[in-house]
Amino acid sequence: MDNRAIGIFDSGLGGLTALSALRELMPGENIIYFADSARVPYGAKSKKELMAMARQDLELMASFSVKLIIAACGTVSSNASRILESFPVPTVGVLKPGIRDMSLIPGEAPLGIIATQASIRAGAFRRELERLCPGREIIDLPCPRFVPLIESGHTGEDDPELKKAVEDSLAAAKEAGIAALLLGCTHYGLIAPAISAFLGEDVKLVSASRSAARAACLRLEQNGLTGGSGETLYYTSGDAGEFSAAASRLLARDIKARQLPVMEIKS
Ligand code: DGL
Repeated sequence: MDNRAIGIFDSGLGGLTALSALRELMPGENIIYFADSARVPYGAKSKKELMAMARQDLELMASFSVKLIIAACGTVSSNASRILESFPVPTVGVLKPGIRDMSLIPGEAPLGIIATQASIRAGAFRRELERLCPGREIIDLPCPRFVPLIESGHTGEDDPELKKAVEDSLAAAKEAGIAALLLGCTHYGLIAPAISAFLGEDVKLVSASRSAARAACLRLEQNGLTGGSGETLYYTSGDAGEFSAAASRLLARDIKARQLPVMEIKS
């Protein structure tokens, strides 16, 4: 039994997909969510910047005395895996759990991965899937237009700007006849209906956020670390009112986030 909270962080709204998945699995846990909205999008940052930001995000989470941290960010998970793995508080990223679930997709049709440009550039999603599914064709695509659209409220299946971005970004995946698509950026779960509408219901969408939530749940259960009172606190480095409004809309519940100072990267 351990009543300390679970920390979840992302660059913005995307990690809410991991939070929702974890809430379903573990309704009694306390959760602290941090959205680094002042610095979104992470996908446009360099590896060096992402490593520094990952460290800051982890230290911020640790300052809340959390028992486990979910890096609900594919960009951090793929660019700063060593930092996550060597951090003194146990961490779960979205890359390995997502790829593990993806590797279970049966058949021989190609497998698709979509993620931010920094994640695709790092190559870690592709390498990990190639290792688990040798010989299987993999299509990995960066989707730099998605996060700015999602952060500015374009999440509806029929939103014309989002529809166009989905068509342009996923044309190659559709052409290749993929069996499944890994949503390697946690933001993308928020536009899953628009993605499915374009690719068709036969293409299975694998949510790396859900995979990470399951991995976190298992880890806590196996180590006897479950416990809490079901409370969730939200923090953002961006505008608290804006984040609260967007998160309340997406989670369909009233959320009041608190503002934290913007973290600087020291060179
Ligand atoms: N949601 C994050 C990810 O999973 C970051 C997206 C971004 O800020 O570019 O990669």
